[in-house]
Amino acid sequence: MTENKPLQSIRGTHDLLPGETEAWDVVEGIIREVMGLYQYREIRTPIFEDTQLFSRGIGEHTDIVNKEMYTFEDQGGRSITLRPEGTAPVVRAWLQHRLGAQGTVDKLYYMGPMFRQEAPQKGRTRQFHQFGAEILGTDAPEADAEIILLFLAVLDALGLDTWSLHIGSLGCRECRPAYREILVEFLEGVEDLLCEECRKRMKTNPLRVLDCKNEGCRLATAKAPSHLDHLDEGCQTHFDAVQALLSDRGTPFTVDPRMVRGLDYYERTTFEVLNPDLGAQDAICGGGRYDGLAQMIGGGDRVPGVGFAAGIERIMLALEAAGVELDFEPLCEVALVHIGEEARRRLFALCDTLRRAGVACTIELTGRSVKAQMREANRREALLALIAGENELKAGTVTVKNLINGEEEQVSFENIVPAVLEKLEKLEEEAVDEEPQDWSDDADGSEPEPGEAA
Ligand code: HAM
Repeated sequence: MTENKPLQSIRGTHDLLPGETEAWDVVEGIIREVMGLYQYREIRTPIFEDTQLFSRGIGEHTDIVNKEMYTFEDQGGRSITLRPEGTAPVVRAWLQHRLGAQGTVDKLYYMGPMFRQEAPQKGRTRQFHQFGAEILGTDAPEADAEIILLFLAVLDALGLDTWSLHIGSLGCRECRPAYREILVEFLEGVEDLLCEECRKRMKTNPLRVLDCKNEGCRLATAKAPSHLDHLDEGCQTHFDAVQALLSDRGTPFTVDPRMVRGLDYYERTTFEVLNPDLGAQDAICGGGRYDGLAQMIGGGDRVPGVGFAAGIERIMLALEAAGVELDFEPLCEVALVHIGEEARRRLFALCDTLRRAGVACTIELTGRSVKAQMREANRREALLALIAGENELKAGTVTVKNLINGEEEQVSFENIVPAVLEKLEKLEEEAVDEEPQDWSDDADGSEPEPGEAA
């Protein structure tokens, strides 16, 4: 007999629960706003793609393609992969739909889940969420600088000022082969000190050796030649220009001579933004230029491109660590509190009218006590309670209770919608710092409650 154990989410995946989703909404809203200011347009590509898109785009000899992809055969025998990143899909879609011919869609952004089978730890999950942006069709250094400034503008808008920017250049297909030879020569000299994997990498993808986390490999390659010392004139001029543009803008950065990045499509500029509060997984953003990617996946001409992607989970952790308070819209503005069947029916209709007038309202659906309804209003941090019982029905009114200061007022049924709108606007203008209070005990007090017969 199979054991009927409760099922759990898969290791490395997380449910985003109410309480968290609202914070994500605020963050995503700010990201969209900044993308609009910089004139990037949203693209949504499928969650799964032809496996070759990633093996050709990201590179056969990267950890992502070798070890981390969720790849499976579908019912039709096709090899499918859950996207581990967004750049190759964006470039595929751009080529497929000839977006380059449409003038205004050279700047794109995206947001959504990505999948990598890495060992889960703080800030590293198997389903994670990125937002990213790409500029296609230009190799101007201004594009590289804009992409970096765009990400920093998002951090600024979020109120996160704890970051450091690290930039590098990997050279291009012209100058990299010569550097590769010099690097391999160096690596051959320290081969005995390298881990088994790096000895293989030396032959397949020697640049990756510089990215190995193994302490022995790091020590052995500490003095390895840097690609920065072997850039050709074009790459050097480009890199100098990117740095000058960042400096002109007053953006602090550090040049990292060892930056390799985990994807093989990069040429020239690479960068990472780190956050000091995140421990081992401190990269909140990574990106760079990938002028050869379109050709690798599309087979046609080279299309210059540059972009970044940032991990939203890590940004949420960084915001929390920095104590940044996000600005929430109130979830619930008005609670409707009914006493008796007749009042419940009247308030049920009023509740829907108010919601359609743009007021966030809650009403108790199962006929719980006034005290329970008031407690619920407090739990939801409602600003106003609209209370109706026998007395109010007789008088054709509703009691409007300000849940911050406890003041009450009778308002006729006909005037209730404009009166509520006016009161909420006033509360918003006053930008009340005070919290709504729990008035549920009033419901049990010796004083007659609104709606209760005296
Ligand atoms: P990436 O460096 O692989 O670059 O990922 C970008 C960011 O995604 C990382 O800096 C990190 O914040 C987040 N991230 C990556 N893996 C995980 C994970 N397992 N758990 C949580 N967060 C993670 C790219 O993906 C490139 N497509 C960036 C790019 C865009 N280059 C050019 N355009």
